[in-house]
Amino acid sequence: MLSAAPTNKASGTIDMLDLAADRTDRRIIQVSHSPDELLLTWDDGRFSRFHALWLRDNCPCPSCRHPQALERTYKFIDHPAAKIATASLGASGELSVEFASTEGRHASSFSTGWLHRHCYSEAARYERVKRPRLWDRAASCDLPVVDFADYMNTDHGLRAWLEALCSWGIVLMRNAPAEPGKLLEIGRRVGPIRATNFGEYYDVVSMPNPNASAYTAMELELHTDLANWRWPPDYQLLFCVRNDAVGGGSILADGFRVAEDLRRDDPESFDLLSRYPVEFRFHDESCDISASAPTIGLDGDGRLRSVRFNNWLRSTLDVPADVVAPLYRALGRFWERLRDPSYHLTIRLRAGEMLAYSNHRVLHGRESFDPSTGGRHLQGCYITHDDVMSRLRSMDRRS
Ligand code: OGA
Ligand code: ZN
Ligand code: ZN
Repeated sequence: MLSAAPTNKASGTIDMLDLAADRTDRRIIQVSHSPDELLLTWDDGRFSRFHALWLRDNCPCPSCRHPQALERTYKFIDHPAAKIATASLGASGELSVEFASTEGRHASSFSTGWLHRHCYSEAARYERVKRPRLWDRAASCDLPVVDFADYMNTDHGLRAWLEALCSWGIVLMRNAPAEPGKLLEIGRRVGPIRATNFGEYYDVVSMPNPNASAYTAMELELHTDLANWRWPPDYQLLFCVRNDAVGGGSILADGFRVAEDLRRDDPESFDLLSRYPVEFRFHDESCDISASAPTIGLDGDGRLRSVRFNNWLRSTLDVPADVVAPLYRALGRFWERLRDPSYHLTIRLRAGEMLAYSNHRVLHGRESFDPSTGGRHLQGCYITHDDVMSRLRSMDRRS
């Protein structure tokens, strides 16, 4: 069957059956191919090499992608391998490719912007990696701050808040009405609230029979929340309704900064913390939730993915006998660093202020407080990274 992708008349580019238009100022100046590979030269001297099977799999024509759902209908496993028969540039710079296989011929068109955006050369893939902006106490004076009204009412306020969360892993919001429940409105502007065994949100107040350390007036050392869950919530929102008691200041640290320093100074501890799991458990009258994971989570390329640390939820280590002592030592090394004030961002939340931070990266804690000197009422809830990214991508479509 021979079918080309539809042209999007408005933009003059090939419609890649995507809601977001891929734009680039770069132009393709040369196309060459073998049966198995296509080589593009761009006007900035860069090259893109695409495999025939990859291109064929990504054909955006209506018989390969559902034209309304925009989802893939082509199943590469059901087709014989396609070779590139011809490849050339069309009038508006798009790439036309004709594939040949024992099934016959198939024509595909790819837009320049899409090809540029999906280039998988080493250089392009390196450039696409989003690197976190690591911070310590010295950098904490630059902590991003977003105004509540800007966030609630404008795209740029929302974007500033989301982007800060992605790169710094933390953002402070100011000037919200200091009303209970406000944090849910703030969270829902991004997406659904992630509920836990503590409910959709929880009140951080000291109470007579606490089922969690947070509900006391005790100091809380730096920790990540819900470390006892297989996948702890991605972001925590901590909203201050009232903070009049003596004490109760907040302390935060960039776990990625601490982990990177550990990797540099003590690679053996870093390696143990990234390889061996630690058990965590929370149990009360109504639930018993337990999970284990390494303190430092890495992706396939060795980049930091997550930090999980919470001493009061930590349960009983279960590792090979010869790992017990080295793992305790490594955990201690990491913990000592967490206590080093040169990593600490300290802030005393005022009524109507809210901190949001990545619960897989930023550790939070608080000083003890004296409930007899005044009220302290914080509220907490959680939101999900996929919703954060979805909001950002959806805004990109309109800009
Ligand atoms: C929490 C917590 C900090 C605070 O509720 O998870 O760590 O400042 N609270 O009370
Ligand atoms: Zn097709
Ligand atoms: Zn906490």
